[in-house]
Amino acid sequence: MIPAWFIPVYGLIKIRIEIIVEIHVFSAIYWLYAMLAPSHLTDAYGRRIEYVRLSVTDRCDLRCNYCMPEGYRDFEEPAHWLTFDEIERLLSAFAGLGLYRIRLTGGEPLLRRNLPQLAARIANIPGINDLSLSTNATQLEKHAVALKHAGITRLNVSLDSLRQERIAAITKRDVLTTILAGLECARQVGFEQIKINMVAMRGINDDEIEAMVAYCLEQGFILRLIETMPMGKTGRNAAYMNLQPVKARLALRYGLIETVLPGGGPARYLGTPDGSFTVGFITPVSQHFCDTCNRVRLAVDGTLYLCLGQENKFEFRPLLRDGASDSELEAAILQAIRYKPERHEFIEQPDKIVRFMSMTGG
Ligand code: GTP
Ligand code: 5AD
Ligand code: SF4
Repeated sequence: MIPAWFIPVYGLIKIRIEIIVEIHVFSAIYWLYAMLAPSHLTDAYGRRIEYVRLSVTDRCDLRCNYCMPEGYRDFEEPAHWLTFDEIERLLSAFAGLGLYRIRLTGGEPLLRRNLPQLAARIANIPGINDLSLSTNATQLEKHAVALKHAGITRLNVSLDSLRQERIAAITKRDVLTTILAGLECARQVGFEQIKINMVAMRGINDDEIEAMVAYCLEQGFILRLIETMPMGKTGRNAAYMNLQPVKARLALRYGLIETVLPGGGPARYLGTPDGSFTVGFITPVSQHFCDTCNRVRLAVDGTLYLCLGQENKFEFRPLLRDGASDSELEAAILQAIRYKPERHEFIEQPDKIVRFMSMTGG
């Protein structure tokens, strides 16, 4: 006969055994995860680095007045361009360390021959799950289908005006019709997200902001307004305007509320409550976003720039061309990330950055 005290004592023992088994199963799962999950790239300020902006060329077919001077020809020589194999190898090493977003930029990235082939190779790197492109769209009509097939899901297109003569004045080329045709083609191809980047300049295109809102609303594009940055003498001479008053004006006029969008960039977004329209504000000067910076920039010659607004950099081309092993490459990446500075100094030292935006890819 079982004594009366046995039942509650048996119950307690059973619960203890279950808890111990559960704890062991939990720690085994955690241990497995820790062993298999890629280590994360974290800089000296605790920021997680998840995003490489890859400039595939420093050349461009336009000469936007805030970016590249007219007549500029001092481009990187082709022998120094990272090859597709080198790019794939280096980005795979980044991905092995937990980085998962890549954006192709330039200069104008579509000027690099066979870009869709490179995009497809990058899209296939294990761990990369966000591949996007920033373009001026002059070659977009020709390449939109191939880019979508290659695995590019998000497109950002520069468009500072909807007036032909203004685009010609800002970019020094008569390209509005070509850009709009490229955008229309991309819209039909059906990318997940198309954003319009409008660099807002006082006295140049600031009277067109509402017209751009209307255009983006009609086309289903996300508008982003950008403050000019003092990159090179072109950026410094641009007609800077503070976008905070514009943000307040648009919020009031269209009844916009704060919202978030998937993507890795620095824009702060407002949108209509029904989600039918979104506008982003990129305000590096009036309200910087360095404390949440998650990116580094790889230039066409293999230089990794750790910040748009500082000179901190690390050269990867010599390593790639001198036969570095995979573990040496990984160690170099970890070392490079430690050089990432805390923030830009566009206000304190506006003359500091002499390179043009086209050299680092925005
Ligand atoms: P998503 O949000 O992922 O769509 O991309 P993005 O906004 O980062 O990319 P895009 O190439 O469209 O850049 C838009 C503007 O943001 C350009 O003027 C860039 O120079 C600027 N920008 C992007 N990243 C940074 C950054 O880290 N610092 C600063 N100061 N500006 C940046
Ligand atoms: N300041 C702000 N944005 C710039 N861009 C190029 N130069 C500058 C600058 N000096 C923008 C382009 C493009 C993006 C990649 O960078 O308009 O939309
Ligand atoms: Fe070319 Fe872009 Fe620079 Fe304009 S902003 S000149 S499109 S790289």
